[in-house]
Amino acid sequence: MTTTEGARRHRVLCVAGARPNMMKVAPLMRAFTREPLLGPLLIHTGQHYDAAMKDVFFEELGLKEPDAFLGVGSGSHAAQTGRLFLAIEPVLDEMKPDVVVVVGDVNSTMAAALVATKKRIPVVHVEAGLRSFDRDMPEEINRIVTDQVADLLYVTEQDAVRNLEREGVAADRVRLVGNVMIDSLRDALPRAKAPGETFAARGASAAWRERATRDGHAFLTLHRPSNVDDRETCRRILTAINTAAGQLPIVFAVHPRTRDAVRKHDLTGLLDHPFILATEPLSYFETVGIVAKARMVLTDSGGLQEETTGLGVPCITLRENTERPVTVEQGTNVVVGTDETKILASVRDILSTGGKRGKVPPLWDGKAAERIAADLAGWLKGRPPT
Ligand code: UD1
Repeated sequence: MTTTEGARRHRVLCVAGARPNMMKVAPLMRAFTREPLLGPLLIHTGQHYDAAMKDVFFEELGLKEPDAFLGVGSGSHAAQTGRLFLAIEPVLDEMKPDVVVVVGDVNSTMAAALVATKKRIPVVHVEAGLRSFDRDMPEEINRIVTDQVADLLYVTEQDAVRNLEREGVAADRVRLVGNVMIDSLRDALPRAKAPGETFAARGASAAWRERATRDGHAFLTLHRPSNVDDRETCRRILTAINTAAGQLPIVFAVHPRTRDAVRKHDLTGLLDHPFILATEPLSYFETVGIVAKARMVLTDSGGLQEETTGLGVPCITLRENTERPVTVEQGTNVVVGTDETKILASVRDILSTGGKRGKVPPLWDGKAAERIAADLAGWLKGRPPT
């Protein structure tokens, strides 16, 4: 790989594995491509493999075909992480990157960071420093481990800087740059699908659509193991949703883990409501279109807490904590937990008051990837490409 001046570009290997990685990697790949000193490469680990969880995101986000697809698939954490280790090592040996860029907090993030650092390849973590302080969340372990081995840590909010400081990460490795998820969101907004089209395409009844036109809609996602694998928690949440659907139509984009869990727990009856539209996982353009026009979002996703804050849409977080406190302190998020009564009180509050107004946090301006590319190029400048 050469630049126009003939100098070697630094080989920057970006790792994607699960759905939320795609929205973070896409703006980075674009920004790295524009930076003359950087030559981006992309691998997809195959942690997510269904077309609805993977292919559609490549298409909509304009991501190039990955330079390698590792096909690791699902399994227990140990099995999946072990397969990730085994699959990533030969790719690094072959591609010889100058730096490995990992994003977010999924198993692929941590696995790639560990394999790279043991080979003494510098590791860059984008979305570093977030902490829920809840080690029952597998992602929390991934965050802590990844941040400990990362050489450069790009963070989205001030709390993350403080968390890293507390954990002894040297300040000169940490850079507050904003949020690449918001870069993707801003980029997607003009191309987002009109919600009415998605509702029709995804099989909403005439009555559902008519009511959504009149009263608006809510959007629901759910996939945390603590919410869906535990039958009682899952039952409480879905009971609240079943009641809330009496007040406004709800679109529920069902993650494969959740689909399987709801069946196993014999709770499908709770989704059988004329104003609950349960769909397959939606595409990014479908999701952004629905979220941007929602009266509220109910979710246990980290990304949606940020996207709703970015869009000024009220968000009810169905968890006991959040690793993204800026969405509560400055944005539109309320952390409500999984108690039926509390969820319903929060829904009622948003319906009657319009919910929290919030403001968009500093640097969530659509330019985070650009800042990262410029900073990374500067950081690599002093190092000869391998
Ligand atoms: C993973 C991430 C989570 C992220 C989420 C987004 C970890 C620890 N978790 O959770 O942080 O928020 O992705 O979706 O990395 N499955 C399919 N098809 C797929 C992928 C998964 O059917 O394409 C099913 C399988 O039954 C699998 C289960 O979903 O066992 C869980 O998949 P896994 O990748 O282990 O974790 P997620 O719950 O998706």
